Amino acid sequence: MSVPCKVLITAATGNVGPHAARHLLEAGVSVRALVVKDDPNIGRLPAGVELVEGDLGDPGSIDAALDGIKGVFWMWPFFTLGTETALDVLQKIEKQASRLVLVSSVGVHIGLEPRDNNCHAYLEGLIEDHTSDLEWTFLRTTGFMANALGFAPQVRNGGVVHFPYGAAARTSVHEGDLAAVGVRALTSDGHAGKRYLVTGPELLTQEEQLHIIGEEIGRELTWEDVHADAAREQMVAAGWPPDYADGALDYFKRLTGEPEVGSDVVREVTGKPARTFRDWARERADAFR
Ligand SMILES: NC(=O)c1ccc[n+]([C@@H]2O[C@H](COP(=O)([O-])OP(=O)(O)OC[C@H]3O[C@@H](n4cnc5c(N)ncnc54)[C@H](OP(=O)(O)O)[C@@H]3O)[C@@H](O)[C@H]2O)c1
Repeated sequence: MSVPCKVLITAATGNVGPHAARHLLEAGVSVRALVVKDDPNIGRLPAGVELVEGDLGDPGSIDAALDGIKGVFWMWPFFTLGTETALDVLQKIEKQASRLVLVSSVGVHIGLEPRDNNCHAYLEGLIEDHTSDLEWTFLRTTGFMANALGFAPQVRNGGVVHFPYGAAARTSVHEGDLAAVGVRALTSDGHAGKRYLVTGPELLTQEEQLHIIGEEIGRELTWEDVHADAAREQMVAAGWPPDYADGALDYFKRLTGEPEVGSDVVREVTGKPARTFRDWARERADAFR
């Protein structure tokens, strides 16, 4: 199969999409981004990306974005959505594209996410069961290093971070490395049908991540564990379905006693070592100052 000459990125202005766009442009591929109307984050995308408006939750609105597309970097920015919506989107994708990369989750890899209540497991199942000619690759990623940006307001306002399970040990991945793996899967052969576990290169507790941020900005930062219920309340208020918040917090609890899985997929697929959390914290230090 030849390299797709035009790739659509969905959820393009989040943490991963701008990196994916850069890697694709560097590989000589035309990039189109599906963006919502009046998206305030369009400035994150590099110059040269074609912008087409559409709402992923309304499959009828994405036809123009898919027109002429040969590859899709598929991200699904919803916790849950009516099952028929994702299937409609997938069927529209298969009519146009020959390759698809799905950003999935480590939770599927370790069997924690049942198909019926999680978007990633559900989407993987849809692709497996409802496509025939599409060459697909799943990126079962651990949490993004960018998730630490959630601590930035507390770091800026006093330097004490209140969150549960500081001892949870994670193999968080640099979102740029995740994007690079996905772009390789779209632009080179040998990745069809692969379910890649994509992780960072090291195991660090949440508290250790915070201390690294502190070292990079030259301030001592403190972690204070709070009860999971406090975080749950905030997550639900921020729009997380309660079951999903419980699942995430249970997973953090599990990681206090059982470290997260790791892999060398970033190096194997891209030929470059995965970036460390310190690399990430240095790049993003200004967000914490
Ligand atoms: N964070 C993690 O640790 C983690 C772990 C495992 C898997 N994942 C997966 O990684 C994916 C990518 O994450 P991310 O942080 O880069 O992005 P994200 O937060 O999932 O998505 C944000 C993007 O989606 C856009 N968007 C929101 N609603 C939309 C709609 N109805 N139609 C079209 N676009 C819409 C947003 O536009 P606006 O800018 O206008 O809001 C923004 O560009 C996630 O979707 C998730 O499935 C994440």
